[in-house]
Amino acid sequence: MALTVTRRPLLYLELFSLLCLIIILTALWKSSHPPPNPIATAPPPPTTHFSATKPLQSPQWSFQYPRDASNHGLSEAQCLSAFPDLYHEIDRAVAHRRAVGNITLSDVDPAWRGDGVIRAMIHHNNLYILEARGVSDHNHRPRLLATLHAIHRAVVVSQEPLPDIEFTFTVHDYAELGEEEGKPGHTTWAYARLEKQESLWLMPDFNMWSWPDVGIRSYGEFRDLVLEDEEGAAEFVDKIPKLVWRGAVHGLAADDLRGSLMEHAQGREWSDVQALDWGNKSDIDAKLLSMQQHCGYQYLAQTEGNTYSGRLKFLLNCGSVVVAHKMNFVEPYHHLLDSSRGEGQNIVRFKDRDFKQLQETMEYYLARPLEAQRIADNSARVFRERYLTPAAEACYWRALFRGWAQVQGFEVEFYRPEEHGKKRKPRGVPFESYVIMEAVDWEIPPRARKICEYDL
Ligand SMILES: *[C@@H]1O[C@H](CO)[C@@H](O)[C@H](O)[C@H]1NC(C)=O
Ligand SMILES: *[C@@H]1O[C@H](CO)[C@@H](O)[C@H](O)[C@H]1NC(C)=O
Repeated sequence: MALTVTRRPLLYLELFSLLCLIIILTALWKSSHPPPNPIATAPPPPTTHFSATKPLQSPQWSFQYPRDASNHGLSEAQCLSAFPDLYHEIDRAVAHRRAVGNITLSDVDPAWRGDGVIRAMIHHNNLYILEARGVSDHNHRPRLLATLHAIHRAVVVSQEPLPDIEFTFTVHDYAELGEEEGKPGHTTWAYARLEKQESLWLMPDFNMWSWPDVGIRSYGEFRDLVLEDEEGAAEFVDKIPKLVWRGAVHGLAADDLRGSLMEHAQGREWSDVQALDWGNKSDIDAKLLSMQQHCGYQYLAQTEGNTYSGRLKFLLNCGSVVVAHKMNFVEPYHHLLDSSRGEGQNIVRFKDRDFKQLQETMEYYLARPLEAQRIADNSARVFRERYLTPAAEACYWRALFRGWAQVQGFEVEFYRPEEHGKKRKPRGVPFESYVIMEAVDWEIPPRARKICEYDL
């Protein structure tokens, strides 16, 4: 394991010697290369935010796939024109907040959750981390880093000034504990919510940055691999005319519905549905399929697990027919799923939380490949080529910042409260050093430290 090197005491000595060498070399280099005349290299006078973007803002601009799919820096006007139906969850959360009253400072106190929660602020288009509670373990840390980077990416490429906001977000699958404790719901950003959890604000999933635990090294790379893969990019008619699914069946909250999938798919000629035993390496080696391999099938089963299932957005990139059950959890793009039998249908979704209609449904579509192809094409057009593009994700983030600001009932305070006779200090830590130190506070000079507290 790569992390075991941190246990070698010698490493610090080696690093220290290397650092000294670099400092000496830099000093030598500097003495022979005086710094350039600052006036000669002064940057051009500042231009307004908008002048640089005029060509893209012309009235003729319209979103073009694939040209704009990975453009994180669309302007607000471009975001609205490219993704008119993207902001449903933000509008809902704003409306809810208008009804119950503005967000208060105590709403952004994360003390209600012991771990997996972050307090942060955006100030003058910079991101600051104010408090990080219990985020160093192997479950929370990757999600936290992914989400912080995604927010940062959306902030730094913004063509417009963003509002100053202060907020919390949680990286838990199940964000809310308020109702279980018999209290009103907490106000925080979360990856998913139950319908009844109206106080939650949905943010894009961590795995739209990266999900290395399951082999998704980045969302962008995954999309390129699908489009360049022979199986993944195949025409619908050339894909394997079967339903595919891999996953654990036991030990999850949604045991029943995964069991129902196994029961109704077992032994059918149209089925490539197999349970995985994550504790058995030879089972995983024998059965695991990559996401690209999933895309090589015409039909993809989707199941919730303990809570929401982050897999759905990957399946919707395939240009196949996703077959799902009634879902309890909502993600930011779920209002765009259309399971009506109309022209716009982009998914097959049963009205119950089981798969007892699976056999008849599979027979129906296998006998009507053109109808199935229309669903697959709609799925590609709506999700892969528009609402699940990285461009849409960045637009959603900035709309979330703006929506939150509309009902933020306090001004963001950049400085800590004044201490008598001392110079004012800013609050929190900028993103840029948080991602190096993974702490909100540290001593200078720093002491040797563990890079992370992975429970190896
Ligand atoms: C592990 O998986 C392999 C391949 O699926 C299977 O043959 C074997 O019986 C499994 N072992 C255990 C202990 O379940
Ligand atoms: C709620 O917050 C917004 C944004 O800060 C502010 O404009 C508005 O006046 C506030 N509403 C109330 C009732 O305080």
